[in-house]
Amino acid sequence: MEKEENKLMENIVSLCKRRGFIYPGSEVYGGLAGTFDYGPLGVALKNNIKNLWWKKFVDGRDDMYGVDAAILMNSSVWKASGHVDTFTEALVECSKCHKRFREDHLKEKGKCDDCGGATGDAKKFNGMFKTQIGAMDDSSATIYLRPETAQGMFVNFKNIVDSFHPKLPFGMAQIGKAFRNEITPRDFIFRVREFEQMEIEYFIKSEGWEKYFEYFRDEMLEWMESMGIDMNKVHELEVLSEDLAHYSKRTIDFEFDFPFGRKELYGLAYRTDYDLNSHKLDYQDEETSSRIVPHVIEPSFGVDRTVLAILLSSYKEDTSGDEVRPYLDFKTSVAPVICAVSPLLKNKPELRDYARVVYRNLKDEFGRVMWDDNGNIGKRYRRQDEIGTPWCIVIDFDTLTDDSVTIRNRDTGKQERIKKEDIISYIKEKMD
Ligand code: GAP
Repeated sequence: MEKEENKLMENIVSLCKRRGFIYPGSEVYGGLAGTFDYGPLGVALKNNIKNLWWKKFVDGRDDMYGVDAAILMNSSVWKASGHVDTFTEALVECSKCHKRFREDHLKEKGKCDDCGGATGDAKKFNGMFKTQIGAMDDSSATIYLRPETAQGMFVNFKNIVDSFHPKLPFGMAQIGKAFRNEITPRDFIFRVREFEQMEIEYFIKSEGWEKYFEYFRDEMLEWMESMGIDMNKVHELEVLSEDLAHYSKRTIDFEFDFPFGRKELYGLAYRTDYDLNSHKLDYQDEETSSRIVPHVIEPSFGVDRTVLAILLSSYKEDTSGDEVRPYLDFKTSVAPVICAVSPLLKNKPELRDYARVVYRNLKDEFGRVMWDDNGNIGKRYRRQDEIGTPWCIVIDFDTLTDDSVTIRNRDTGKQERIKKEDIISYIKEKMD
């Protein structure tokens, strides 16, 4: 079983590189641990995820305010938020091979995962990346790359209230990069040093916070299902009080059965009034004519972990004869390419010219359409299956006489002949 799971991970990593989803960061210079570069198909997948998230949680509601705050913030933000003092991990070093580990990640406490040597006493290690601002090279110039997008919303709380006068409850939402100096980045894009988050800070009155917590729990489950994440692999973990982050009174981790173990995919936290209090921010409550400090429910989603969970949930193989056919059964809504268009033969101008017109029409309609005339038709189908393209459309000699095309379904491999003018409605009807 472990072998199979390792193989699955290997297949995904290799497919992502080969087909242009995800490449190791700075590869031509030997790489940079904990960083990855997204290629054209990876960007398309990520953009689809982020756009669908924004549609559901921001545009689809009338109580959510989107922001895009600066990554660089005054370092006082991180002192007030508690990150300078408490965003730390216990770091241990092996006395034999000098490899460093997070103490809570060791397979066996006190023993090096790699060589079995003894690990020394743990030291505190702050997970924020430090950099400096301006020309001065002293401690007054120290600033941090944000380890969560959340604070960019809290520090804009007053701006949103002053500009829009929202009534409680209301939320702020943001998608953006976050950085953590992870001691041991690992497992492909699961634990990286630079990643993206999609976060909501939902401001409420303290009484009845449980109701909003339950509401967002359901919304998060609905979101995962809509992404095509295998819900049999999703589990909720009630975080024990001793393991809660410094700001949280209650947290549920949504865990996913990754090939390397059951690990956190998303988090849902009740942050109380911790953050607004820390930043000395409050709100004029019209009902009681008094100033109150709103409490916060925070659903937090990692974009990269979403990508990985979708890839793992979508990867399928079937066999015909001795040949194994790997494919990604992405939902149309997240698929980087909705359909590919090919002339049966590359070197026949009459097929090419016809196919170019079909391609252009589909591209104008759906955007995510690929022209594919590389190699023979079998190779093209194989390539499109591997990148999860739901439909392949081929223009052949019959097309020239009766204006019909073949449309092939990725999951079944079956082909149908339909009229050229029906392609768009055919796809629209079947999109998920
Ligand atoms: N604002 C709350 C917060 O940042 P978190 O549980 O530390 O909470 C939220 O992070 C989400 O960000 C995680 O559930 C995960 O999806 C993603 N995430 C955190 N660290 C990550 C890392 N090193 N690499 C990739 N994603 C990460």
